[in-house]
Amino acid sequence: MCGIVGYIGHREAYPIIIKGLQRLEYRGYDSAGVALFDKQGIHLCKTKGKVAELATKCSADLNTQAVMGIGHTRWATHGEPNDINSHPHLSNSGDLVIIHNGIIENYETLKIELENRGYNFTSDTDTEVLVNLIEEVQKQEKVKLGKAVQVALSQAVGAYAIAIYDRKKPNEIVVARLGSPLAVGIGDNEFFIASDASPFIEYTKSAIYLEDGETAVIRIGKEIKVRKIKNDSIVKPYVQELQMNLDQIEKGGFDHFMLKEIYEQPEAIRDTYRGRMLPEKGIIRMAGVDDHLSKFLNARRIIVVACGTSWHAGLVAEYIFEDLARIPVEVEYASEFRYRNPVINKNDVIIAISQSGETADTMAAINLAKENGAFVFGVCNVVGSSISRASDAGAYTHAGPEIGVASTKAFTTQITVLSLIALKLGKEKGSISISDFNMYLQELELIPDKIEKSLQINEHILKVADFYKNAKNCLYLGRGYNFPVALEGALKLKEISYIHAEGYPAAEMKHGPIALIDEEMPVVVIATRKGHYDKVVSNVQEIKSRKGKIIAIVTDGDQQVSKIADHVISIPDTFEAFTPLLTTIPLQLLSYHIAVMLGKNVDQPRNLAKSVTVE
Ligand code: G6P
Repeated sequence: MCGIVGYIGHREAYPIIIKGLQRLEYRGYDSAGVALFDKQGIHLCKTKGKVAELATKCSADLNTQAVMGIGHTRWATHGEPNDINSHPHLSNSGDLVIIHNGIIENYETLKIELENRGYNFTSDTDTEVLVNLIEEVQKQEKVKLGKAVQVALSQAVGAYAIAIYDRKKPNEIVVARLGSPLAVGIGDNEFFIASDASPFIEYTKSAIYLEDGETAVIRIGKEIKVRKIKNDSIVKPYVQELQMNLDQIEKGGFDHFMLKEIYEQPEAIRDTYRGRMLPEKGIIRMAGVDDHLSKFLNARRIIVVACGTSWHAGLVAEYIFEDLARIPVEVEYASEFRYRNPVINKNDVIIAISQSGETADTMAAINLAKENGAFVFGVCNVVGSSISRASDAGAYTHAGPEIGVASTKAFTTQITVLSLIALKLGKEKGSISISDFNMYLQELELIPDKIEKSLQINEHILKVADFYKNAKNCLYLGRGYNFPVALEGALKLKEISYIHAEGYPAAEMKHGPIALIDEEMPVVVIATRKGHYDKVVSNVQEIKSRKGKIIAIVTDGDQQVSKIADHVISIPDTFEAFTPLLTTIPLQLLSYHIAVMLGKNVDQPRNLAKSVTVE
């Protein structure tokens, strides 16, 4: 978590850093800070709160046209979010200043050692320990900043992406990474440092992504020098051409990124299957699967590892893989899988799903699977992300940047990619007929149009949201393919409106949640005509007889449930396997409108961050 930005070149650094931090606020937003460097030295400004508050504070405090600087937006790990714990942090001498994304796990031991040597600490952070450790190494070993960073980081245990400046060497910034992302944009005689490319996309399309265990010295007017932290060997960096555009990371007339991203889903899904699914030829082409087809076809089972919304996409995948490809699937929270000594076999295929491609627990689950000889397939959105690089093969979702912290288009594009893989394997294995395969492709091609149709009922959903906005709790029920959608619907509501919500398989209601139902309890029931419709109708009756308020997501033309429900939201008909792609849409909109009506910060809900690089 946390976003870092830096600039070194010929432009005024401050506006680049502030704008960059705003784009990285999805990574954390409880405090922020900036340090600018000029002939007078280091100018520091930091505050509790969002980047907008930092900008207000700094415009009065900072009086410099510096062309070098660093900035940070924080998601607190060590030490509460306050002015003092905000980054950047200075070393005791005041010569070094650092920003850090990650956790130094052995900071307490290091802190005691440094205190014994006379160092004082003003904050509660692990980062302040790191900057002083670097200072101590400089003192003891009489080495330059780059070398001191290498030595200090060899003593540190944990994860980091750092940028550090030494006022005794005013033309350079040193960066390093292990476990947290770090990109360096390369312009004309200028460099941009950031947690991802969004802060510098309007200035340059050339970037280097530092690999784990690498450090780089960035100097004005010089080439960037990358080295391995461990053995000091020089690495030739790979310069990538970025595909991202500025309009993809701006709100484009929408009030919130989340709403924009909900509306982007038809196009995002088209982008996901474009070039892969060729209904006219009756084929699905996916290089990552084609090149390793035998791994999938001989898989004893598939284990999906993921967190949050991506885990819900994994649950949908369980239904679709078992249904269409007849491969057994287990879906694991990456955070549980990594620590519970799981049985992993060489014939297991691990599918790691992650929007950001940076989630620490998912990354650790991948490493564990690889150590045990399993084949790892990554489904990521962010191109070049750590998980995509650590996987043996993979498929990008091509959803474009997702900035709203509550995931929307990442979820539906993940389901799309996973559906394509399941269909492809089903055809190869003969578990679905060629004619069914072709019908599935034709139907999948229609899904974006059907989502567009579902988005047209936004006004109606607004009214439903108004009706339920003051609920204290909410239950979400679904069966089969729509059970994971119920979980995802409940997660969306909790995340952004802070209303307590639970998702359940509809039939499980009678084993507990039914006790909660009274006239105060809204129950969202996904009751599409496919699947176990009759069973769900019975569940709806059970809720009604206990006076629960029913919001039903039904298929166009529905009769039975519509007669009983208090509010009905209709979506177009589709194949059962694709219903999650449609039933999700009204649930996203419902949560969004309730959160807006309650005055919540939809794009940056409290305590959450989009990229969770700590465990
Ligand atoms: C955080 C985000 C969620 C996301 C989860 C997993 O909790 O707020 O939206 O689903 O991390 O992230 P990933 O990038 O691995 O999909």
